[in-house]
Amino acid sequence: MAPFQLQSPLDMHLHLREGDLLNLVAPLSARAFAGAVIMPNLVPPVDNAARLDSYRAAVDTAIGDAVFEPYMTLFFRPYTADELEAMRSRIVGIKLYPAGVTTNSEAGVRALQEAEPTLGLMQELDIPLLVHGESNGFVMDREAEFMPVYEHLARTFPRLRIVMEHITTRQAVAFLDRYANVFATVTLHHLVLTLDDVAGGLLAPHLFCKPIAKRPEDRDALLAAALSAHPKLMFGSDSAPHPQHSKECAGCAAGVFTAPVALPMLVELFEKHDALDNLQAFVSDNARRIYSFTPAPKAVSFVKEATVVPQRYATVLPFGAGKTVAWRLSETGQTLV
Ligand code: DOR
Ligand code: ZN
Repeated sequence: MAPFQLQSPLDMHLHLREGDLLNLVAPLSARAFAGAVIMPNLVPPVDNAARLDSYRAAVDTAIGDAVFEPYMTLFFRPYTADELEAMRSRIVGIKLYPAGVTTNSEAGVRALQEAEPTLGLMQELDIPLLVHGESNGFVMDREAEFMPVYEHLARTFPRLRIVMEHITTRQAVAFLDRYANVFATVTLHHLVLTLDDVAGGLLAPHLFCKPIAKRPEDRDALLAAALSAHPKLMFGSDSAPHPQHSKECAGCAAGVFTAPVALPMLVELFEKHDALDNLQAFVSDNARRIYSFTPAPKAVSFVKEATVVPQRYATVLPFGAGKTVAWRLSETGQTLV
């Protein structure tokens, strides 16, 4: 069977961390993708120019020579127009976390009214808003309960590009068609898992993440939207590495580490559903259009060759460890187009 090729695949939601973990995981994404949107939920958060530049420098060092663009983001806080204008060219968006809903989000937003002046400035400066859309309610209902907030934002700021990050519900899929300025990312794991996989049998800490995987009908709606390359939906892995001791303990950290396996698994999934022709749009073209950027040319090839996912990458266990995937990433190279 001929190799399958993707042109400049993009990961529109990625956690790279800092220090040793950054140096471990960044090359894995940089090998497979042409670029990724880098999350700012570090301690302390990436919320000023000095922190943004030093984090970008650390990411660049970790990537080395790979053709890979780290699209940087800021952690949402009230910013002045001067601050935003100064940093605008170095970021692709600002990530809003409601306070306390997930890893390192304590510095997030407590009252939406306090965020609105900055959202108005972002609209004027055409800086996309990326949102972790969960309420503080019952865990299975948090995303659905957040929909009125998205609705309020979409109406109040009709020229602000709003990205619902890592959507997990059929309500969010349906919401995409209601407002021209609303888009979404979806992870690989939410296309294939339900809560049953996380907690229906023996507890699977490596599948525990925020937002938590939901019901079969939610997973099916997400999968149908991805397979059909819904034009407002982008792939964002939300690959969120935590060391093994932080996952296999009482008080397991939220996050699934998918970066090294995401693309071969997506090729396998789309092939299984006879939708390989739509994968290019889902993992690259939709994002280019929505964010209005052009990634570096990078052809990534896959061969159909059963491959076992490694049990671990140093301290971190990948999604699907020990399982067999039907495709393998074989090579990457510059394209002439
Ligand atoms: O599962 C998650 N892990 N969800 C998030 O929103 C944050 C992420 C992390 O940073 O570990
Ligand atoms: Zn995330």
